[in-house]
Amino acid sequence: MGEQIKSENKENKKICVIGLGYIGLPTASMLAIQGFNVIGVDINKKRVEEIKNLTFKTTEKDLMTLVKGAISSGNLKVQTKPEKADVYIICVPTPCIEIDGEKKCDLTYLNEAMKNLRPLLEDGNLIIIESTIPPGTTEEIYNLLSENKKIHLAHCPERVLPGNILRELVENDRVIGGVDETSAKMAKEIYESFVVGKIYLTDAKTAEMVKLMENTYRDVNIALANEFAKIAEEIGIDVWEAIKLANQHPRVNILKPGPGVGGHCISIDPWFIIEKSKNAKLIRTARELNDSMPLFVVEKIKKILNNMDNKKNNKKEKEIISIFGITYKGNVDDTRESPAERVVEELIKEGFEVRCYDKYANEFKYPLYDLDSAIENSDMIVILTDHDEYKSFDKEKLTKIASKMKKKVILDTKNIIDRNLWRDVGFKVYVLGDGKNA
Ligand SMILES: NC(=O)c1ccc[n+]([C@@H]2O[C@H](COP(=O)([O-])OP(=O)(O)OC[C@H]3O[C@@H](n4cnc5c(N)ncnc54)[C@H](O)[C@@H]3O)[C@@H](O)[C@H]2O)c1
Repeated sequence: MGEQIKSENKENKKICVIGLGYIGLPTASMLAIQGFNVIGVDINKKRVEEIKNLTFKTTEKDLMTLVKGAISSGNLKVQTKPEKADVYIICVPTPCIEIDGEKKCDLTYLNEAMKNLRPLLEDGNLIIIESTIPPGTTEEIYNLLSENKKIHLAHCPERVLPGNILRELVENDRVIGGVDETSAKMAKEIYESFVVGKIYLTDAKTAEMVKLMENTYRDVNIALANEFAKIAEEIGIDVWEAIKLANQHPRVNILKPGPGVGGHCISIDPWFIIEKSKNAKLIRTARELNDSMPLFVVEKIKKILNNMDNKKNNKKEKEIISIFGITYKGNVDDTRESPAERVVEELIKEGFEVRCYDKYANEFKYPLYDLDSAIENSDMIVILTDHDEYKSFDKEKLTKIASKMKKKVILDTKNIIDRNLWRDVGFKVYVLGDGKNA
């Protein structure tokens, strides 16, 4: 065991990758390039057509080239229905759902994928679940599927960083948890074909928990940074300066505050622990604190504008807020769970006109504007995402931006702008967590 699968065996090994999104498509393509016979399956017909025609949108560097290579090698076929294979890799969504006021993992997609696989399964097949799931889920699925068939089942959580998926898919260490040792070892053989990082084997429940612990660690750390930001505003210090200085300590690494935590992982995964344990008290508090940040930002916007208004300007025309960046993190197109959605929703409720500008975003609940229309006659710019574009504005560009604004005010919730440069062109600059200039 543990030896890499020889190339002639790869051609004969059929792998069905279920779910061709951010994770499944690169994984399927990578396996096809390694020589496996791969069937990529997605229930979304449009997605399948876009992959076949290479017209899907992506900001992942080199993904288009990889998929093109995989399809033209003849090793990757994409379709809407699974077919019989030796190995099934499951990469379907596992979002959060609210039931009776409690957030839980929505296993609908995973259960549907398993239901579709069931009639295809044969003795000796290996199923690998990459989707993030609450502890105990792999064992529950095994109990259902192994009633009639002798299958192998492992959980191999994905830990890639969006925006850098192709490199991390290959270089990251992986944890594989099997329902038994054979399952874990069989899964390892598949990943060894392209992973250069270390592969650690364990049981399924531990692997499930490891993935959730990694993201929870980050969520709790960000919550601490957010709490420090709130305190900094209260006591009149700049949290960014304070965190930088505290991080000079060799054993301290405080993450950055911001307008909230978004994305498909960090803002969701801690709930999958909370749903399984009464002891997850710190984890719940951290989650709630991070979820409170969009409202904190909205209150700050209101306070800044109220303080600027001279009293005679009593209730007047709608103020315009220009939001820069609505994706959940910088330089990616993903808007899932983005705190921007909550910020925009609350601002609209408060009676503001909101115009969002984000040239990276793939889709959003609210209309997107180009830069000029977003800032035309605007009362305030609010940066919610650390896209490189906003850091790169030079004096000439900022002068143009300033000339279009009604009030020259900016709130930077990510601390990415050159504050003096914006001040030079006439902006009043506010930064989340900077209590020295609140
Ligand atoms: N995106 C990330 O960076 C990331 C990182 C680590 C882990 N994960 C986890 O990986 C899993 C997949 O995430 P993603 O970001 O790739 O999701 P995604 O939404 O981008 O893609 C999932 C795809 O699965 C398809 N699908 C849904 N049900 C299906 C079914 N029954 N059969 C076939 N296809 C089906 C959807 O149409 C979609 O195209 C999730 O559990 C997520 O938490 C994601």
